[in-house]
Amino acid sequence: MAVQPKLAHVVLQTGRLAEMREWYCALLDAHVVVEGDGFAFLTYDQEHHRIALVQPPFPVEPKSPLAAGMQHMAFTFDCLDDLLDRYSELAGRGLRPKVPVQHGVTTSLYYRDPDGNFVEFQSDNFPAPEQATAYMLGEEYARDPLGPVFDPQTMRTARADGATVDRLTSRAWALATQEQPADPASIWA
Ligand SMILES: [Fe+2]
Repeated sequence: MAVQPKLAHVVLQTGRLAEMREWYCALLDAHVVVEGDGFAFLTYDQEHHRIALVQPPFPVEPKSPLAAGMQHMAFTFDCLDDLLDRYSELAGRGLRPKVPVQHGVTTSLYYRDPDGNFVEFQSDNFPAPEQATAYMLGEEYARDPLGPVFDPQTMRTARADGATVDRLTSRAWALATQEQPADPASIWA
């Protein structure tokens, strides 16, 4: 079997380097490793850089929703409580997810950076990858692969009040506690 490489870093081209640097440092609890004229390398763990930002010496066009390319990058937390802790920390600093979705397989918060790129924070709803795969091959997922939106603050409060992780990470809980948009695609706009 071939040796598989690990994901090392992501590089984003931007026209607002300083704003993007501050945003990613805040979101990921990251720090600048090295920066210079038109670039900043950030990390949040042992790797020398995880996110790099580059600002070319020409005007950068705004991200078009019609352009092909990356829809989002995703970071995973070990458990729902860790995800909700980070949610609260960030909300306290005015950073809120644009799109909170109960995918069923993961509980996901999508933040949108100043350029319009989405960054997903997730926690897995199943303890084993095989269970997650089985869920994604099942009927509920086939009917609606996206899943319902939910209110992370309501979830956080319910969790603090003793609601179980199993209950809070069900699609039924999201549907029972949050009005759903008529057009699910509109949530990304
Ligand atoms: Fe994702």
